[in-house]
Amino acid sequence: MKTHRFAALILAAGSGTRMKSRRPKVLHALGGRPMIGHVLDTVASLGAEHTYVVIAPGMDSVAEAVAPAPSIVQREPRGTGDAVRSAADTLAGYAGDVLVIFGDTPLLTAETLARMLAARSAEPRPAIVVLGFQPEDPAEYGRMIVAADGTLERIVEYRDATADERDLPVCNSGVMAADAKTLFDLVGGLDDDNARKELYLTDVVALARRRGLACTVVEAPEDELIGINSREQLALAESILQERLRRRAMAEGVSLQDPDTVWLSADTDFGSDVTVEPNVLFGPGVTVGDDVTIRAFSHIEGATIASGASVGPYARLRPGAEIGADARVGNFVEVKNAKLGPGAKANHLTYLGDAVVGENANIGAGTITANYDGFRKSQTEIGAGASIGSNAVLVAPVTVGAGAVVAAGAVISKDVDADALAITRAPQKSISGWAEARRAREADAEDKEG
Ligand code: UD1
Ligand code: MG
Repeated sequence: MKTHRFAALILAAGSGTRMKSRRPKVLHALGGRPMIGHVLDTVASLGAEHTYVVIAPGMDSVAEAVAPAPSIVQREPRGTGDAVRSAADTLAGYAGDVLVIFGDTPLLTAETLARMLAARSAEPRPAIVVLGFQPEDPAEYGRMIVAADGTLERIVEYRDATADERDLPVCNSGVMAADAKTLFDLVGGLDDDNARKELYLTDVVALARRRGLACTVVEAPEDELIGINSREQLALAESILQERLRRRAMAEGVSLQDPDTVWLSADTDFGSDVTVEPNVLFGPGVTVGDDVTIRAFSHIEGATIASGASVGPYARLRPGAEIGADARVGNFVEVKNAKLGPGAKANHLTYLGDAVVGENANIGAGTITANYDGFRKSQTEIGAGASIGSNAVLVAPVTVGAGAVVAAGAVISKDVDADALAITRAPQKSISGWAEARRAREADAEDKEG
């Protein structure tokens, strides 16, 4: 999407007390990504020339999370207007628009921001464009006071509004677009003569009108503009995002058999003709190739699944799992930091951690790579076409050569040559008639007791 020049200013210095959390509000995740990450992605996709994030003193974790976008520290939480003022030194000289966006409004789309920027150059060429919405429950959002000709006169905060003003339907989302020079001139003139004794960014509209500058409202659907102030709102926003992600996946050619039961991350990347059965969770960092089937109740994060592979039911793929083309990972199999070659199979009850499994190798039921000795993690290598018998333990570091066979129940702590058989069981002993004799003894004893 191409629009005219703009810089994004994302406000995130608020304390977020209603979240009841030690973590800064904007770092709470949505679709597996901090909410401010969604805002950053959106402005990046629109081609922001500069992006700054306003944070409070000590919010180092936010500064780190938004890097390389630079942070600006607002010394005291004196309101949204003061937060914008804190960027004056950095942005007042910028020759373009500034888009002010709240870090706690992550569902905002690039399309909506593009409409706002476009509205700036349309008649009546407004100095300020504010993004409004008509929520089902207007709650404590600021209200837009619109003139008869449809232009915006001022914004009144809920706490300062009269009963009549509170009845107005269009609310302020907090997003604002204005020419940099005008915006910083106007915020310079704000005062704190209001219910919260804060500098309200919203007051720049009335200041602009006093100078004879036009202001307008662009509206967007409510589900883009939920401001997250509490855990309940976070959960609501998550459910809206999940809906969007599911729709996007289906539009790209993924069959979700029961969409409402599939949990996706913002970065889940699907090929075409993927089938996902019910009750599957995709954590962050998952890439799925073409023609893959993910069966029910699988839990997948940080994994790559190549085309034609089948995963689950009840599989767990942890970060660093790389499942090769046409490979199979069956029920109750956990894979962590391990590569399964093309056509390899681990079908039942297995743990593969810190391992490389060659092409077409077969991992028998109950196989465990013992990758941790209590101090350090070690690697297991299994060659192409090798066959690991059921209930084998591969004590890492260890290598099983290509085409080798490991017998069932083996504990393998030394390397196995290619094409060899490795077996560690004690020889089997059978004692003829032993069971029958025992039954007879027991029956005898019972007769005597009776
Ligand atoms: C604000 C708007 C309100 C709008 C609502 C939409 C003002 C005065 N009010 O109210 O009209 O309906 O958002 O969600 O703008 N922040 C700072 N520094 C501060 C204060 C806030 O950076 O000193 C940041 C916060 O981190 C947050 C954003 O600004 O990302 C909004 O602050 P918040 O306290 O949530 O404002 P609301 O009361 O929701
Ligand atoms: Mg808010």
